[in-house]
Amino acid sequence: MTARPHKKQPRKILVTSALPYANGPLHIGHMLEYIQSDIWVRFQRLRGHEIYHVCADDAHGTPIMLRARDDGVTPEELIARMEKEHRDDYRDFGISFDNYHSTHSEENRAIAEGIFAALQGGGHIARREIEQSYDAAEKMFLPDRFIKGECPRCGAAEQYGDSCENCGSTHTPAELRNPVSVISGSTPVLKSSEHYFFRLGDFSEFLKEWVDGGHLQEDARNKVSEWFADGLRDWDISRDAPYFGFTIPGESGKYFYVWLDAPIGYMASFKNLCDKKGLDFDEFWRAGSETELYHFIGKDILYFHALFWPAMLHGANHRKPSALFAHGFLTVDGRKMSKSRGTFIMARTYLNHLAPDYLRYYFAAKLNHRVEDLDLNLEDFVRRVNSDLVGKVVNIASRSAGFVHQHFGGKLGGALDDETLFAEFTAAAATVADHFERRRYSRAVRVIMDLADRANRYWSAARPWELAGAGGDGEGESDAGARDKLLAVCTQSLNMFRILAGFLAPVTPALARRAGDFLRVDLSAAGGWDDLQTPLLNHTIAPFTPLLARIDRRQVRNIVNDSRDTTTTSDGATVTSATATTASAHEPLAAAICMDEFTKVDLRVARIVKAEAVAGADKLLRLTMDLGFETRTVFAGIKPAYAPADLEGRLAVVAANLAPRKMRFGVSEGMVLAAGPGGGDIWLLSADAGAPPGSRVK
Ligand code: 2FM
Ligand code: ZN
Repeated sequence: MTARPHKKQPRKILVTSALPYANGPLHIGHMLEYIQSDIWVRFQRLRGHEIYHVCADDAHGTPIMLRARDDGVTPEELIARMEKEHRDDYRDFGISFDNYHSTHSEENRAIAEGIFAALQGGGHIARREIEQSYDAAEKMFLPDRFIKGECPRCGAAEQYGDSCENCGSTHTPAELRNPVSVISGSTPVLKSSEHYFFRLGDFSEFLKEWVDGGHLQEDARNKVSEWFADGLRDWDISRDAPYFGFTIPGESGKYFYVWLDAPIGYMASFKNLCDKKGLDFDEFWRAGSETELYHFIGKDILYFHALFWPAMLHGANHRKPSALFAHGFLTVDGRKMSKSRGTFIMARTYLNHLAPDYLRYYFAAKLNHRVEDLDLNLEDFVRRVNSDLVGKVVNIASRSAGFVHQHFGGKLGGALDDETLFAEFTAAAATVADHFERRRYSRAVRVIMDLADRANRYWSAARPWELAGAGGDGEGESDAGARDKLLAVCTQSLNMFRILAGFLAPVTPALARRAGDFLRVDLSAAGGWDDLQTPLLNHTIAPFTPLLARIDRRQVRNIVNDSRDTTTTSDGATVTSATATTASAHEPLAAAICMDEFTKVDLRVARIVKAEAVAGADKLLRLTMDLGFETRTVFAGIKPAYAPADLEGRLAVVAANLAPRKMRFGVSEGMVLAAGPGGGDIWLLSADAGAPPGSRVK
């Protein structure tokens, strides 16, 4: 799935990024998406297209209502504060939204009501009574995540109302044993209430065609096909008071569910922009619009964007997205971000220590067009940024600038030294553009860095320091030749640098701005991509000031230290049977067992041959384990701590004589032992623990 290729005719494009919830700060996992979309949008602006990038705070829902209550403020006060923080983070990360708005806005209310009325008019809204868990003490219905109890299947304690982290099964809150409300601690009761439903099934033919119509990445399309196979169910789009959201017209005490008006927030933010700039909203949103519409999203919200959203738009006679661009999750050092490891890094914490271009570059160097997770390896981050951006790109400028100022009054020569080499650089523009267009940023970066290597090799071979020694003062005939050559070499180098900084402008806009100031050109001008084809000759440059400093490892260490949460909570510090995490020192000991009982457990070292996510389970991985004498399948709830790819080849201890257990997703033939309080903090053996598979653990 790709966007339309570059044409000379400017395209009209609307881009959105997912709306962050207004109940917490942004972290670098969020920034992965905004950096990805911002690179694309900046690239399209350079190409001269008419493009708008809009976003907003996602301001509605129970968590925001409760967070405001906990903070002792109104929801409106909370969302105003969060919006300011979010806007500051985006600005300081160089995210160039054309508009930033809120779903709690009059534009959003009007459009949401309009879409709802259209769906109702088309017969796509049903009403019926349903029973739900209710907190009688708080007088409110409880979302699934606000109820905890024992898993109806495996009996694990402290499980949410929708799924079990231990055995991976899904359930309804009504099925939980001994449920309690997380809000009041009281036992929920069942209470019935009338709800509104969006009849998604009415759109199944339309959706099948849309999903097959080239609007999704291949991996996203496969996922959506699985959902089709499960059947498209009615979607509950109403919530009862107390709630923070928009009241459903004609009702009192009933609200639109946050996810109904969230994507409509894309339209509302754009409407807000149209009103400010005199743009034609309908040109972008009417059915059959010839403009392009792209949504950048995380893979976790694909269902909403690939099914509900196009169906809602279709039912309300609006245009559908041209494409969805879904990305995977961010891991840090190969694992889920973790507060205790200091890798749950807030956007602001990062910014307190490092400039955004470093992270933007690193993400770009690893991003592609697939729905794949991306790992921020902190060691690799420092090495790569220092070696590529500082060592290869910026150095070209600093070395040439010295000679140009010292010997030529800061003025470039009238000719390049090597036209053919320059032509190699300009010719690469088409390839780089194609990679950016298709969101294969890692490939674009590779091409750019290959050119940087080329420029550095050229510089070393030209030996300008010798030319300067021979002809720097311009005295004598051979000296004059060396001097001309030196000017041509510096002119060549600075022109190659200009192209590199120009190609990188969507990725590292602050560097492009400083490089542009130094070269006295605008490297980020709308439509400026093609300017790079013409060399800068007889052109006076500004005095050189450092363009980019190397990252000092201590800066990264400080980010990690500032992100480390050292408070100990009892949350999740339990022994769970699927992961067999060992108890922390704070937990009460289980009843004593005698040695005989203990030695009955046959513990063996096993090598993880394959690790796969289990569809429908948040925490579980299906592990294929080599025990030396046989291969087994074991399910373990360690997904929050390990990316599957990082597990393959690793060793773990397995309780090997545990009777096979039938789980919802298959039979588990053993149990993996791991240590840690749970969540993202679970440790297996290291890959090089030294014991061959099958060895007995004593
Ligand atoms: O998952 C989330 O963080 C949602 N706030 C994303 C909403 S995107 C759009 F649909 F509004
Ligand atoms: Zn369970």
